[in-house]
Amino acid sequence: MPNINILKNKYDLGFFPTPLHYLKNLSKQFDYDIYVKRDDQTGLATGGNKTRKLEYLIKDALDKGYDTVITAGAQQSNHCRQTAAACATTGLECHLLLNAYKPDTYQGNLFLDDLLGAHLHFSGSSKKSREEDLKELKTGLEKEGKKVYLIPVGGSNFVGSLGYVSAMKELKNQLTEQKLKIDYIFFATSSGGTQSGIMTGKILFDIDTTLMPIQIDKEKDYTLSLETEILKILQESVEKFNLSQTFDLKDIPVIKGYNLAEYGQLTNNERFAVNISAKTEGILLDPVYTGRAFYGMLDILKKQKIPKTSKVLFWHTGGSAALFKYADEF
Ligand SMILES: Cc1ncc(COP(=O)(O)O)c(C=O)c1O
Repeated sequence: MPNINILKNKYDLGFFPTPLHYLKNLSKQFDYDIYVKRDDQTGLATGGNKTRKLEYLIKDALDKGYDTVITAGAQQSNHCRQTAAACATTGLECHLLLNAYKPDTYQGNLFLDDLLGAHLHFSGSSKKSREEDLKELKTGLEKEGKKVYLIPVGGSNFVGSLGYVSAMKELKNQLTEQKLKIDYIFFATSSGGTQSGIMTGKILFDIDTTLMPIQIDKEKDYTLSLETEILKILQESVEKFNLSQTFDLKDIPVIKGYNLAEYGQLTNNERFAVNISAKTEGILLDPVYTGRAFYGMLDILKKQKIPKTSKVLFWHTGGSAALFKYADEF
């Protein structure tokens, strides 16, 4: 029997369940039934998917007696902003290693990181790998007597993925309440924690749907593939949840082809998606993740790559704070 008790061990940081609602204007325009799950409304300093992951990660850190958290990300990392907020509310000291040069002015998420009281470290000029920089930062803080909990990039490990395992339980309840069957779920996939949790939750809570994860980052030849990262988390999930199912690389769906531009580069695709969502539904997407994934979904619908009778869900994973950094590119 699967063991779902581990899902109880979390620190409440957000507002759940997040709304699940119909997008009537876009549904009419694209001639498909389109729904959205509003994880841009999870709370924690403008919301996003990291609230769910941090509920488990922060609990783990507190249970184990850590007093300081380190994590890393891009200059406009939503994960870093939400980690800073989670630390602010739980009294943990927060250090962020940002893969950027220190800009003259702080905008978007970077402004919020600072406002939320995080200590910012810029690794733009570093010749070392991110792992080496993180290790150095950790050792330095430990020498000052701090107990340092390291959260991986994107909060993507087994503990973080639990946020999306329990999100699938939440979704299952909403689908039952609304008497709704969703045929396809689209979402942005980047460091893999969200997708691993969704995949595990789909099995645990027996949700009959097809996952359409849209890859955001360009493939890099010096890191493990996204599928390999996801597989590692899934294998740990099989063990910890006592699942009878096993996973293989070929079982991990990842939609490629919308990740041709660099990470964070705004192209006409993201511009189109952010604009249409704002102007037809009043919903703010972000320029990096949800803008790219939403474009992918609309493109698939426009080309009728899935049956016309399908009900589709876009899982909005947040990130709109980054819009303020991109204001002059729209
Ligand atoms: C707004 C937003 N959506 C989606 C993702 C992707 O989630 P994951 O890294 O778990 O794949 C991120 C990751 O940072 C994000 O900030």
